[in-house]
Amino acid sequence: MSDLFDLSDEVAVVTGGAGLIGSALCEGLAEHGATVVLVDADEDAAAETANSIGGHVVTQAADVTSAPEMGAVFEYAVDAFGSVDTVVNSAYPRNERYGTEFQDVSLSDWEENIALNLNSYYISCKKSFEIMRRQETGGSIVNLGSIYGVQAPDFDVYTGTDMTGPVEYSAIKGAVINFTRYLASYAGKYGVRANVLSPGGVFDEQAEQFVTQYESKVPLSRMARPEDLKGPVVYLSSDSSKYMTGQNLIVDGGWTIK
Ligand SMILES: NC(=O)c1ccc[n+]([C@@H]2O[C@H](COP(=O)([O-])OP(=O)(O)OC[C@H]3O[C@@H](n4cnc5c(N)ncnc54)[C@H](O)[C@@H]3O)[C@@H](O)[C@H]2O)c1
Repeated sequence: MSDLFDLSDEVAVVTGGAGLIGSALCEGLAEHGATVVLVDADEDAAAETANSIGGHVVTQAADVTSAPEMGAVFEYAVDAFGSVDTVVNSAYPRNERYGTEFQDVSLSDWEENIALNLNSYYISCKKSFEIMRRQETGGSIVNLGSIYGVQAPDFDVYTGTDMTGPVEYSAIKGAVINFTRYLASYAGKYGVRANVLSPGGVFDEQAEQFVTQYESKVPLSRMARPEDLKGPVVYLSSDSSKYMTGQNLIVDGGWTIK
């Protein structure tokens, strides 16, 4: 049974690998034996994350919104390691005005944030598919979604803070889930799987009032920790989920059941 989760001989490309969630995903994959290509725009943070993980993690500085840069990343991975077996898309590109109240979001910000974020999934998934379809063993794509891809934000949890649920976020995450279904349907006959991993809110030193309000609505009574996502990403990347595609795996302490 434990072999089902074994990722030795597997190569995983993780975008946003230096981020809050991405770094835990890299760690989980490396702990299960994968060679990890950590892709991030923040070169220093990427190097720091790779050093702290200590397994076989190499870094690639790239902008996920650039098709040529991502093309070079995938070319590097194939040249250096021979295959790309898993791709996890956890980068979170957005502009500096992202996260304002709905009535303050301009059309150009809406357009820019949606394009930055959704295009990055398209670019990475298209390149991943091009490589994986030619491999005898296919591959697994894991797109980071969110509970807000299946549910409206609960604005009560932001009361008394300067936080909100960005409107672009709901549009993007809903789209990521259905884009992933499309991909799974299209790519299945080539042995390529695609699933979404949708976390609930992850603790990141947010305002205490927000954390208290959020946690009061979670059946498991706490926000997620990045390490809660290690098992799920290993599951989706490995043979343990080999008959699963097009699904949205929600890891939220039970938030969405109510
Ligand atoms: N944090 C949460 O509570 C939460 C909850 C549900 C879903 N998610 C999703 O998980 C994913 C990761 O979120 P996170 O909280 O780890 O975000 P984060 O901001 O901590 O990390 C994102 C990483 O992406 C990198 N990045 C940003 N723009 C980039 C670009 N253009 N090219 C390359 N790298 C770029 C950043 O440098 C950073 O390291 C996102 O899709 C997010 O929507 C997060």
